[in-house]
Amino acid sequence: MSELYSITEKIISKGKGILAADESTGTMTKRLDAVNVQSTPENRLLFRETLLSSESMVDCIGGVILYDETIKQIASNKKTIPELISSSGAVPGIKVDTGAKVLANSKNEKITEGLDGLRERLKSYYELGARFTKWRGVYIISDKCPSKLAIHSNAHALARYAALVQESGMVPIIEPEVLMDGDHSSEDCLKITSEVLKKCYDELILNKVDLKGTILKPNMILPGIHSKEKIESKKIAEFTIKCLAQSVPSEVPGVAFLSGGQTEEEATENLNEINKLNKTNFTITYSYGRALQQSALKFWSKNIKDISGTQNIFNHRAKMCSLAAQGKWTEEIENKH
Ligand code: 13P
Repeated sequence: MSELYSITEKIISKGKGILAADESTGTMTKRLDAVNVQSTPENRLLFRETLLSSESMVDCIGGVILYDETIKQIASNKKTIPELISSSGAVPGIKVDTGAKVLANSKNEKITEGLDGLRERLKSYYELGARFTKWRGVYIISDKCPSKLAIHSNAHALARYAALVQESGMVPIIEPEVLMDGDHSSEDCLKITSEVLKKCYDELILNKVDLKGTILKPNMILPGIHSKEKIESKKIAEFTIKCLAQSVPSEVPGVAFLSGGQTEEEATENLNEINKLNKTNFTITYSYGRALQQSALKFWSKNIKDISGTQNIFNHRAKMCSLAAQGKWTEEIENKH
């Protein structure tokens, strides 16, 4: 188990966070289509390799979550992608769920699949160099959702996944994401996220998962994107800390937030406020996909050959997130770039 604790520490300590570069081919194709780049395996690799060879990988990125295609790809310097990541001191990780499918008897909700054959897949990912994993459950907020069934089923799957991952010698990231979609209030988000997290920990404990060798990847507490509620970053931080303090056992070493559709700056400012307020035992950091990659992708799409230009943009974003993970970000530093 102590091996798991040191992997966790390596990923989230010293102002480092996680780069979530594990978009499935379908999602990555949507992202590339949006910036008019053809979604080929070569282009997907080129963009990801550009980020993974950036200078900020050394000080700001403790772990990178990969997708099945990428963990098997070879970089231009002949290193495997996990070797490229490890060479900067970061830990290679892998998304192991096989996606969210319609939940039987609750058509509007989803259950994440991927438990069948997972033990064998974990073994091969370990051999490819992965030392941590991700599984994402999704929940929607509406009049009747999330249902007890969705809360229970996703918690059960997350816990069975986490137990298998620890058995294989890797650290599981537990990602129950309450989506921002909808017009719900921040109070609703607080209440539901707390209920979802508590159920996850009930199941994790039942499955004898060692919480000290896990990382939680939750959503921040925000109003729905169609809500008229105006909320300040300080209030988001207050609600988010309240949610963690009341629902997450104190043995959990780290919480790495997803960005979930916030802009790069919102995700940075909110993380910074959360850290300024944090009196819990948890190390609180980022595990961002869009909020680390959006501007870099936009620039790269128009300047595919400009590796250092793309890396400059990524380096700035990673640096801002790292400052926010230490409560040291300011708007002034943000705008100096
Ligand atoms: P976003 O930060 O873009 O929400 O992605 C994080 C992630 O890994 C979602 O599963």
